[in-house]
Amino acid sequence: MTNLFDLSGKVAVVTGGTRGLGKDMALGLASAGADVVIIGRNVDPLVVKEIENKGVRALGISFDLLDFDHYDDLIDQIVNEMGHIDILLNNAGVQKRHPSVDFPKDDWDFVMNVNANAVFFMCQKVGKLMLEKGYGKIINIASLLSFQGGLTVPAYAASKGAVMQFTKSLSNEWAKYGINVNCIAPGYMETDMNTALIADEKRNTQILERIPSGRWGKPEDMKGAAIFLASSASDYVNGFTMAVDGGWLGR
Ligand SMILES: NC(=O)c1ccc[n+]([C@@H]2O[C@H](COP(=O)([O-])OP(=O)(O)OC[C@H]3O[C@@H](n4cnc5c(N)ncnc54)[C@H](O)[C@@H]3O)[C@@H](O)[C@H]2O)c1
Repeated sequence: MTNLFDLSGKVAVVTGGTRGLGKDMALGLASAGADVVIIGRNVDPLVVKEIENKGVRALGISFDLLDFDHYDDLIDQIVNEMGHIDILLNNAGVQKRHPSVDFPKDDWDFVMNVNANAVFFMCQKVGKLMLEKGYGKIINIASLLSFQGGLTVPAYAASKGAVMQFTKSLSNEWAKYGINVNCIAPGYMETDMNTALIADEKRNTQILERIPSGRWGKPEDMKGAAIFLASSASDYVNGFTMAVDGGWLGR
């Protein structure tokens, strides 16, 4: 039987793939056979090595996704070195916390630029190549805050709401050309992004009490959904946001 989850011969690009959820998803795609490019502000060569150790080709590119004027150069470099792009996983994201009444404009713009604008324009640029080929898998990392408002994180909620919405817009335009555009919405995951929440005993207890599976998510919990949405197993899944949240949204 054909392995529906086999990614051999595919090239995956993972933004923010040097740590946290992105790193584990990059390793997951590599273990399914994909060659992997990780993009981050400072790529750790040890992570590139770890991916190569899965027996695939790996490339690390240090690039700031706020550098919108150089996306074409970035994509040219990837295509020159890897040959093509089959899978785009837009994972890089940032968080800023302030009460809404005092939320600084600079932080608002920063969060919207990294979490929403960079994701859209990476989809646009890489999507153009995928449209020419008639094949592609795009996975955008949304959040529970694509559905909910959160507390003191209005820019993050706005940016992740935008990601879930424009994922549907892109899917509506591109599904018929063989491109699947979907999101994964991680729940509360143990990564650097949540250091402040985990350290806040009261909020940590409140969060844990609400998660049906009774624990914070781990980066490795993201691998299965990433492989599924990157592989032919999901060929008829379009414009969907899949939660990996230990059951949080069901409460
Ligand atoms: N941790 C969670 O609980 C959680 C929950 C829901 C959604 N998410 C989302 O998952 C994704 C990964 O989160 P994480 O917890 O692993 O975060 P993290 O802070 O551990 O990692 C974020 C990654 O994004 C990269 N990045 C940020 N800004 C960048 C830029 N301008 N240019 C290039 N790279 C940049 C960082 O270098 C890093 O590799 C984010 O989109 C985040 O919003 C996380």
